[in-house]
Amino acid sequence: MASHDPDKPKDESPPTEGGVSRRQVLNYAWKALAVGLLVEAGWTTYDILNPQPSGAFGGVVAAGHVEDYPEGTVRFFQDGRFYVASTGGALVALYQKYPHLGCRVPFCDSSGRFECPCHGSVYNLRGEYIQGPAPRGMDRFGMKLQGDRVLVDTSSVVEGPPRGVSSVPSDAKGPSCVAGPGKGQEAKPT
Ligand code: FES
Repeated sequence: MASHDPDKPKDESPPTEGGVSRRQVLNYAWKALAVGLLVEAGWTTYDILNPQPSGAFGGVVAAGHVEDYPEGTVRFFQDGRFYVASTGGALVALYQKYPHLGCRVPFCDSSGRFECPCHGSVYNLRGEYIQGPAPRGMDRFGMKLQGDRVLVDTSSVVEGPPRGVSSVPSDAKGPSCVAGPGKGQEAKPT
């Protein structure tokens, strides 16, 4: 005759048609849920440690490879809404939106600087303020290398450097792209 462990709760639920009690069914369900949560947590951890480029603004965007950026290179990523510039031996990811009133700023090949057509703010290749009404340097995004892949995290904007910061040359290498009275000239900062 089988003995009964008094400490073990008795399963009093009636067996189902397949011979499995309701308690056993619940146990299986809880175990399945726990496995599901573990798998989910595993994927979340994997995603954090190995960010997969989404290719779009708001996520991690792949921006080519380190060898794509010889000194002085500027590349625009429309879907990510940023530029990646190589200057002073480093890469920087610059938000396309100017910190003044939000116009999109183009890079001017002839001057080698970022020039906003709205009110004439100008920035050097590293997005540092040179002139115009903008309150600071261009805002930027965090970057990381995965092997030689360049990844830009557009999920949060990092405020640009204050006026007065100038770590790379700011002189125009040629004519300005912005039409108007300031074209090709250095205007006084406001
Ligand atoms: S929005 Fe670019 S200078 Fe005003």
